[in-house]
Amino acid sequence: MDPKVHDEYFAGLALLEVPYHRSSPNPELPLMSSNSPETDEPKSLTAAWIASILLIVVYVIGLLIFPPLYEAPKGDPSSTVLFIGRFHPILLHMPVGILGILCLFELICSTRRGEQRYGEASLLMLLFGGAGAVFAVFAGIMLSREGGYVGGNFSLHQTMGLVGTAGVLIALVIRLVGMGRGSMELLNAYRAVYFISFGIMGFGAHFGGNISHGNTFLTQHAPAWIKGPMVGMEKWMLSFVQKPRVENTEVKTEVTTVTTVVKTEVKTEVKTEPKDPVATTPPAGGDEKLVFEHVILPILTAKCNKCHSEEKSKGELRMDTYELAMKGGENGKNFVAGKLAESLSITRIMLPIDDADGEHMPPDGKDQLTPEEIALLKWWVEQGASGTQKVNEAKFPAELQATVDGILKG
Ligand code: HEC
Repeated sequence: MDPKVHDEYFAGLALLEVPYHRSSPNPELPLMSSNSPETDEPKSLTAAWIASILLIVVYVIGLLIFPPLYEAPKGDPSSTVLFIGRFHPILLHMPVGILGILCLFELICSTRRGEQRYGEASLLMLLFGGAGAVFAVFAGIMLSREGGYVGGNFSLHQTMGLVGTAGVLIALVIRLVGMGRGSMELLNAYRAVYFISFGIMGFGAHFGGNISHGNTFLTQHAPAWIKGPMVGMEKWMLSFVQKPRVENTEVKTEVTTVTTVVKTEVKTEVKTEPKDPVATTPPAGGDEKLVFEHVILPILTAKCNKCHSEEKSKGELRMDTYELAMKGGENGKNFVAGKLAESLSITRIMLPIDDADGEHMPPDGKDQLTPEEIALLKWWVEQGASGTQKVNEAKFPAELQATVDGILKG
């Protein structure tokens, strides 16, 4: 080892050995490692301050320009906004990764020696992680302008993402002040704010995952002792943002021939609307099973409702309850009893998968309906698209019986 480097190395080590006096910031025992051990001058934090303040200003101004909305956006967003929005699922990994590792670093930094060694690295991570969070938030808001992002998962995802990011920015400021004053107390306060903010972000991220993958994605295969608390916690959090909704029972009069039938059906169907129809459907006795609820809805849930239910209502279409499936989306006429050609969902299913306008459903690349599932949907529409017909009173085509049995078994 070059003797000079050798000396500096040991000078550095000696610096680390000095006992730490908690409440007395001592300029001779700087928290920050120094470039020049001879002078022991703390490095200036000016650059970090400038970057941090810029970041905060960008966050605030950005939110003023693109305010987070909780209702369907009005007007058409520019294609630039939509283009950037699609980067949200990519961008969000940056803060997740950096801030995740920072948690580990902050545990190390909770000792004075750790702070001396890794304090500046942590600050840098905090800055990059914070910047990543800010940009992920913006992209998320732009993505939401596509429309269809409403409901409990979305509200929690957006709110907790915003609050968590703000928390990280506040934490950043506290860290800078703490480092500037060499105060371990302030740095501990910073860590508290940081961990809480990161936790909020984490939960917020989970509800974002629910939007893309469905509510049961994370818990589906969880062992019971984890699943119970997780689902309970999730329901509890969602209960804050989900108001009991009054269902729109009005059925479009286009359903001319069966209007009266449908109306009465709708009345009997209006109960508390299940969020996750499959999970909350009461276990009906074999005889009581309904064609729509137990045969048709499971198909829609599996193949359509990731994009057409409460969380995402693409084309303003929701099909998680009978009345919503009948009501249809932007263009209504989703299922017209007895009329395949007029039923928008049927016509879009029947389009070739490489349809020039990309109108085939489910969109290319997504899990497609099987020929049997298509046949069942068509049969159901031809039979009158009933919401109350019972399974044991229905005459399924013989060749579809096996499929029906499979669906009923779940
Ligand atoms: C991956 C997401 C996704 C899945 C899965 C999906 N859709 Fe769609 N759907 C969309 C999007 C996006 C739109 C709006 C854009 C458009 O009109 O193509 C849409 C629009 C529609 C519309 C037009 C609504 C209206 O009133 O304009 C119908 C009908 C429809 N989907 C039916 C279905 C059916 C039936 C399934 C399942 C077999 C399905 N979709 C699965 C994304 C999806």
